[in-house]
Amino acid sequence: MRFDGKSALITGAASGIGRATAELLAREGAERLVLVDRDENALKQLTVESATVPLAGDVADPRFWESAELGGIDHAVINAGVAGVGLIADLCFDEWRRILSVNLDGAFLSLQAALRAIRDGGSIVAVASAAGLKPEPGVAAYGASKAGLIQLTKVAAKEAAGRKVRVNAIAPGGVETHVWDAVPMFADRAKDIGRDAAFAELAAMATPLGRYAKAEEIGEQIAFLLSDQAANITGSVLLSDGGYTL
Ligand code: NAI
Repeated sequence: MRFDGKSALITGAASGIGRATAELLAREGAERLVLVDRDENALKQLTVESATVPLAGDVADPRFWESAELGGIDHAVINAGVAGVGLIADLCFDEWRRILSVNLDGAFLSLQAALRAIRDGGSIVAVASAAGLKPEPGVAAYGASKAGLIQLTKVAAKEAAGRKVRVNAIAPGGVETHVWDAVPMFADRAKDIGRDAAFAELAAMATPLGRYAKAEEIGEQIAFLLSDQAANITGSVLLSDGGYTL
């Protein structure tokens, strides 16, 4: 098993990609998982096969990280994030700050805490997005936050290489999770035709393979990047988007 006896930090662990990754690492032998999420109830309901340290809090709040006791870790998944859409000309500053605050400030603080706690030879994956690579109307805040996260990942990869710590990003296209509930185009359609059909419609619009990923698939790809199978990979962005950016 790839994560026998290892300890990992996962942010945004209570739902979607974070939850699927936590469940997979636990099945693959992780001894201890530090699971961070601001949704305390969902965090409490999460049952995985490893010992867990649930930490309820906001990744964008520096005071949360000052009081968080991570212990030594071997891996980290910087995953907590929020979505939102709006054309630049219409976007209010509060909405811009809401998205940048969680997706970029929060990722910075999480990465900083992870780099301080991680053992030499460890590995980190940041969950960016294809929206950080492909410009589309309406994704200014979300896309800028994820483009920033990609650059942050690459800088971290260079800074941490001396300690043999690897830092990579994954850039998913559409993934069938609750992050889409904040996107009116999806939420309205889901109300009318159901979530599965609304995801299928979205995927048919702009994704050549005509499918969105399941959270579990992205979890598998994160686990690959974290594992020794990826020992030669650092500072890279694994695009997992069904061809969306082509
Ligand atoms: P999700 O909404 O199911 O999970 C996100 C989790 O992060 C939730 O449990 C939420 O409570 C937590 N969270 C949000 N803000 C937080 C904060 N300030 N502090 C602590 N926890 C916080 O969504 P999903 O899809 O699993 O999202 C995970 C990551 O994947 C996000 O960074 C998202 O941007 C990224 N992503 C998702 C895609 C998709 O289509 N679902 C595509 C590309 C990237």
